[in-house]
Amino acid sequence: MNIETTIDLTKVPQHVALIMDGNGRWAKKQGQERLFGHSIGVEAIRGTLKAATRIGVKYLTFYAFSTENWSRPQAEVDGLMNLMVKTIASEVDELNTNGVRLISIGDIQGLPADCREELEAAIDKTKENDTINVILALNYSSKWEITQAMKKIAAKIENGTIDSEGITEELISNEMCLQNIPDPELLIRTSGEQRLSNFLLWQCAYTEFYFTDVLWPDFKENDLYQAVINYQHRERRFGKVSEQLI
Ligand code: IPE
Ligand code: IPE
Ligand code: MG
Repeated sequence: MNIETTIDLTKVPQHVALIMDGNGRWAKKQGQERLFGHSIGVEAIRGTLKAATRIGVKYLTFYAFSTENWSRPQAEVDGLMNLMVKTIASEVDELNTNGVRLISIGDIQGLPADCREELEAAIDKTKENDTINVILALNYSSKWEITQAMKKIAAKIENGTIDSEGITEELISNEMCLQNIPDPELLIRTSGEQRLSNFLLWQCAYTEFYFTDVLWPDFKENDLYQAVINYQHRERRFGKVSEQLI
């Protein structure tokens, strides 16, 4: 795709969030184990990152493992954790060379030690980079995030730092995981499912949703461009009427 003529590079979303869904169904269609789908899914992450960097996206958030995903069969959970460790370890140098800054959101204390250590090392190694920020949502759920934000705010009230009048939208945002990062303008979910599955409930208050039937391992650079083109044809009114936007 000739992105220079099809995408308005001055109106690219700064932050794109992705719910990567359909690895298991993709594998089943090939007569393979679910874990095979997850490993090919890593290729799709690579391609998406390349495409997003090319058009100038600044923040790319991937939903990689939800709090609810611990309920999957133990072998799949173990396989996913192993894949995470291996992938982070093998990709970190290339990410670093390409100016990628890695960030994570979610309860990383709840991850297996090797996974947490690999992740923390990669975050530290890439922390000065600023070409693009890749945010990995790992052991993440929105209700967990909101709950821990409420606890931090309650503690501030208890110790007298603020009173209840001090609770503002800004204060709440600052206790969320993505503080200082703009809310996603565009959220993409693959595999035909049309739900948030406990992802970024606060941050997606005004996000544009794009659903595609493509299964995550089949998601290619052009699929990202298609989503961005679709986004660029929408009118984001933020409560106003069309005429006020011109
Ligand atoms: C998404 O693919 C990956 C994770 C949730 C880790 P799935 O594993 O959910 O694939 P389906 O939805 O079963 O096809
Ligand atoms: C959402 O996918 C979580 C991730 C992509 C990591 P799921 O496949 O777990 O979502 P549900 O359970 O079908 O809603
Ligand atoms: Mg799924």
